[in-house]
Amino acid sequence: MQKCVLLGVSSSIAVYKAVQLTSDLLKKGYDVEVTMTENATKFVAPLTFSTLTKHNTIYQTFDEHTEYDIHHISLAKKVDVFIVAPATANVISKLANGIADDFLTTTFLAFKGPKIIAPAMNTAMYDNPIIQDNIAKLKEYGCMIVEPEVGLLACKDEGRGKLAAIDTLIAAIEAALIEPKTLKGKKVVVTAGPTIEKIDPVRFISNHSSGKMGYAIAKAAFELGAEVTLVSGPTSLKHPYGVKTISVSSANEMLEAMKKVYPDSDYVIMAAAVADYRIEDPSDIKIKKSGDDMSLHLVRNPDILAYLGENKKRQKLCGFAMETNDVIENARVKFLHKNCDMLVVNDLNEKGAGFKVDTNIVSIITADNIEKMPLMSKDELAMAILRKLGEL
Ligand code: CTP
Repeated sequence: MQKCVLLGVSSSIAVYKAVQLTSDLLKKGYDVEVTMTENATKFVAPLTFSTLTKHNTIYQTFDEHTEYDIHHISLAKKVDVFIVAPATANVISKLANGIADDFLTTTFLAFKGPKIIAPAMNTAMYDNPIIQDNIAKLKEYGCMIVEPEVGLLACKDEGRGKLAAIDTLIAAIEAALIEPKTLKGKKVVVTAGPTIEKIDPVRFISNHSSGKMGYAIAKAAFELGAEVTLVSGPTSLKHPYGVKTISVSSANEMLEAMKKVYPDSDYVIMAAAVADYRIEDPSDIKIKKSGDDMSLHLVRNPDILAYLGENKKRQKLCGFAMETNDVIENARVKFLHKNCDMLVVNDLNEKGAGFKVDTNIVSIITADNIEKMPLMSKDELAMAILRKLGEL
């Protein structure tokens, strides 16, 4: 069913970004309602939002032109999520203290669903302990705060206060809308991307992993309510919103990072394409060419998943495998050998599976079942994996 987002717009110069946010949400298929503070209408006309959303943009509580019902209550009942973006210091302070003196703040009080606040203001105002206390209070009341970014502000100051990027705001909305939060209170660790093994300061060996599958799992785990740590090899992907990301390079670095986070985790998903071998003796200086051939001596890297399997206590462990032949047989061997609770296997010969694409086609192996999944987007598969892992 189509979800409805209520966007509350208050009077920061970042109002213009709220127009883009509205447009992007509509393109993603959401129904969008907008309410503005009266001051925000001095930056952008309500007509801009109304034309985009095809709904009346309300900014006056006692507007004679709105339908004859108690609109802040009916709107609060209609929408699925309420995001205030940009949220000024004034609106944040009002919301934290239950002040309801206009349509936006009244509707906020009447709304029972997930609430998101995206502050935007000058750094000195943002750092002011009064505002920080009010933000902390809103967090305690269960609001999700999308931290502002650091950058050049409209007042030419440089610092924290820029409204978060639009894709970050959308990620927060999507996370808020996912129900039920089946992983609430759980700690999930995901590895992603390739590892790179150094040859010298300018060269390395690596593989084609894009990190997309692992990043999709980390995002989905956050959406399901988990506290998520992503241990990532080098990728070109943006760090997922709401996820703690630890960046590593080599297999050994990934192992060290995993040793730190593993004991305290509930679910671990090893989606990284860890290099099986590394250069025995990487050079600290650039290797010069000489002669017609050259050989590199490779030694085995630690098998991180096998290490986690050996040291498993309460954790549920999910591995990945990529195979080209005897897919299920090879995968079953890995599942048992590495003491996994679940193994997701890609058949590289299948159309839609593999590196750098946004889809995947896999089989999921558990102790008593092998399930062939249909072709899915990596986002859909991420949800399916986590749901299954949660049921084990
Ligand atoms: N893996 C790991 N450490 C390694 C190699 C792999 O933790 N040094 C993990 C991967 O993250 C994945 C799983 O093991 O979850 C399977 O990886 P794969 O490369 O398919 O298996 P290998 O055991 O390396 O077998 P082979 O390459 O011989 O097929």
